Amino acid sequence: MIFAAILAGGIGSRMGGTDTPKQFLTLGNKPVIIHTIEKFVINEKIDKIIVLTPKNFINHTNHLIEEYILYKDDIIVIEGGRTRNDTLMNGIDYINEHYGIDEDSIILTHDSVRPFVTHRIIEDNIDAAKKYGACDTVIPATDTIVESINGKTIESIPVRDYYYQGQTPQSFNIKKLFNLINSLTEEESNILTDACKIFALKDEDVYLVEGELTNIKITYPYDLKLANTILEDIHD
Ligand code: CTP
Repeated sequence: MIFAAILAGGIGSRMGGTDTPKQFLTLGNKPVIIHTIEKFVINEKIDKIIVLTPKNFINHTNHLIEEYILYKDDIIVIEGGRTRNDTLMNGIDYINEHYGIDEDSIILTHDSVRPFVTHRIIEDNIDAAKKYGACDTVIPATDTIVESINGKTIESIPVRDYYYQGQTPQSFNIKKLFNLINSLTEEESNILTDACKIFALKDEDVYLVEGELTNIKITYPYDLKLANTILEDIHD
């Protein structure tokens, strides 16, 4: 089976000034999270979409899905976790309990606050996760990367050509991911906040899928303004 996990368990503290997590703020004429879910609903290869939100937003999310989404039979809303990784684990545990984990099933994990993921990116993630077992969506770094350990002086300036900015989806063979996560020591699981990093640490290949400049993550209030501009541009 092919699962999509929409990670919406965060509270959006960097947006500031609002009790509503950023995934529920309005972009154009509907909430950010609805734009995001829609991108996965229209992909016929995806069997189930699991949306993970803070506990007190589960009902709200169900209402929004009821209001905005036509084909909702394969969408399930469950509780996220304290960290982004805990949220992902809740999704995997849900799959394990309700569907079992076979050799071939894959999961696309996507930030709820990246509403401009494209059909092409989703398709490429499905292909790469099936073929290689793990992939990450990235774009080449455009700014020079500067490394500083003390935050005051430069340690090094790595060759930019080797550096990419990570986006999502990040997609995995579920069995591989499940086994890797369960093999982590407590110390490792506290440091490893990114599922691709778990693969890399365990010397497993993670293939690169080409992202898009417009596949932005809404993090700060400015990003929501930018998202509205991108939306207008898409509709022009
Ligand atoms: N996320 C999640 N569960 C968490 C934390 C984050 O599912 N416990 C999700 C967010 O909802 C978001 C995505 O991971 O869709 C990217 O994380 P980020 O932008 O850091 O979101 P927040 O944690 O909500 O933001 P902030 O760090 O500003 O509080």
